[in-house]
Amino acid sequence: MAASALPRWRPATLIYRRDVTPDTQTVPLHTALCDKAYMKTQRILIRDETGHDVAVITEVTIAAFAGLEISNHTEQYIIEALRSAGALTLSLVAEVGGRVVGHIAFSPVSISDGTPNWYGLGPVSVLPLYQRQGIGKALIREGLLRLRDLGAGGCCLVGHPEYYKQLGFTNVAGLVHRGVPSEALYAWSFRGRFPQGEVMFHDGFAANGQQRQARDAIASRP
Ligand SMILES: CC(C)(COP(=O)(O)OP(=O)(O)OC[C@H]1O[C@@H](n2cnc3c(N)ncnc32)[C@H](O)[C@@H]1OP(=O)(O)O)[C@@H](O)C(=O)NCCC(=O)NCCS
Repeated sequence: MAASALPRWRPATLIYRRDVTPDTQTVPLHTALCDKAYMKTQRILIRDETGHDVAVITEVTIAAFAGLEISNHTEQYIIEALRSAGALTLSLVAEVGGRVVGHIAFSPVSISDGTPNWYGLGPVSVLPLYQRQGIGKALIREGLLRLRDLGAGGCCLVGHPEYYKQLGFTNVAGLVHRGVPSEALYAWSFRGRFPQGEVMFHDGFAANGQQRQARDAIASRP
């Protein structure tokens, strides 16, 4: 089915598990996350993952990153590793028509200047057929609202400049991540202050499937 064959839902409605709508927020997020085009997207339910979503999150993640040349295609293992380490601070799914079509993960980061309560955003995935319809923005926006409610100072990510800049994420002089060009490291601050130093994402980001194979091999030993 081509993307253009998707039904055009009207009027646009966003449903969040906590009945949060952009109009009711007391702290406005970047306007690009609340613009009219965004609100004209189809019905999207954003909710926490449950145990039933684990397999479909893997499928969505694999499918979303499959065609991405810059990906190592290890994102599904990263999510698994974060989950097993109890480091999935937030794991949200996007449902359209009862089907999980998107996912976003947030996990704690450490920053060399000692700034506490910062998080890493990602991986974030939307099934190819559902991309460019506002689902990624909805996941990111709800994730940011939840992080703010958790008392987070902010979050950062390594990602595509074109996408994250338009959402209000910014490059921060003096905030770096080893091996990543500075223009690919983006941050969002809830308090107007940005840390300085090196960002270290959770060890789960090094997962590449070998760890799971080793675990499975040990578990299957007689
Ligand atoms: C990136 C991703 C999560 C965005 O979700 P989405 O639902 O497609 O995005 P949205 O509909 O919320 O936003 C659409 C806008 O974002 C921008 N955008 C989306 N994907 C983009 C991309 N790959 N490159 C540049 N800009 C992009 C465009 O401006 C687009 O607006 P347009 O369609 O009017 O041009 C999704 O495309 C995806 O899963 N991609 C593959 C995995 C990936 O790259 N994950 C992020 C790694 S950093």
